[in-house]
Amino acid sequence: MPPMPRVVAVDPRAPDRDAIAEAVGVLRAGGLVALPTETVYGLGARALDAKAVARIFAAKGRPENHPLILHVLDEESARRLAASWPERASRVARALWPGPLTIVVDRAPGVPAAIAGGGDSIAVRSPSHSVTRAVIAALGEPVAAPSANRYQGLSPTTAAHVVAQLGDAVDLVLDAGACEEGIESTVVDVRGASARVLRPGAVGAAALRAVLPELEVEARLERAAPGALRASPGMGARHYAPRARLVLVESLESARSLAVELAARGARVGLVVRERAGAVPASVLVRELPAGAGPYAHLLYRTLHDLDDAGVGAIVVHDVPSDETWSAVADRLRRAAESA
Ligand code: TXA
Ligand code: MG
Repeated sequence: MPPMPRVVAVDPRAPDRDAIAEAVGVLRAGGLVALPTETVYGLGARALDAKAVARIFAAKGRPENHPLILHVLDEESARRLAASWPERASRVARALWPGPLTIVVDRAPGVPAAIAGGGDSIAVRSPSHSVTRAVIAALGEPVAAPSANRYQGLSPTTAAHVVAQLGDAVDLVLDAGACEEGIESTVVDVRGASARVLRPGAVGAAALRAVLPELEVEARLERAAPGALRASPGMGARHYAPRARLVLVESLESARSLAVELAARGARVGLVVRERAGAVPASVLVRELPAGAGPYAHLLYRTLHDLDDAGVGAIVVHDVPSDETWSAVADRLRRAAESA
């Protein structure tokens, strides 16, 4: 186990003022605070403090050309970070903020390029989680926050996941329990002639299309060509991966057989399914996830973290349906299955 950071429990129904003040103190001093959001835990720093932002990259072991998301309270604050705020950005922000949607726009000249991985765009999101909102409000500034995991690792959906991956590389963890969505925000680029989903996420394509009929969903192309490079920096190949090798298998029966076969070679094996798996040896740890995309997404990372903690050598996953409601889960499973 890595050295423990300070962990403070906060009730999301009534965030404790002292805990929020402590988090703001750490941020003002240039420190890192792990913050609960409705999607996953974020690794927060003052976005406009270049040194603090550099610490985020160091703590995660993340390449410096991978841009970060800026977290703000509302559209008004987001606009101030953007060189231009297209009408489309207003439309989605008004319909879906606060919530698990990240909007990519042109970066304002005053916003440090380091946050944007050196690029000229910026990603902004207004989270709905009461604790993170209270921190941003008390700080009075935007908070940069990637998911609070090591580079390419599994996103944390509990404070314990953050501690296990980052140890005392983070100064303070605000623990508000398990994240509601359990999967990251949807990233949509509203620059240019049409809107594009760069990362499918907690806001489904149908909900986005209701506000942006012109939407293009890149993830569908990627599903046909796994491993292909993306337009969004920091989105290449392996990502969102457990420590154990993850193998995606199309049919339930083949998934079960593969898990049994791998277990016969002596390793403990995880088997993640959406229906009853049938009889398997005790060394196959079966995890039955819900049949619906939302509830499945809510439990996916937690299940993979649990299997990693149980010391499995491999995780066999029965693949998910190919319809659009599953696109975020399908995307994460494909990336997790990429070899390093
Ligand atoms: O739900 C979430 O989005 C969580 C919580 C903490 O807010 N954050 C998160 O951050 O997932 P991170 O850094 O792990 O992922 C950010 C994603 C990456 O896929 C990155 O490529 C994309 O957003 N992104 C960030 N800035 C971008 C930009 N300027 N242009 C294109 N994509 C960008
Ligand atoms: Mg991440």
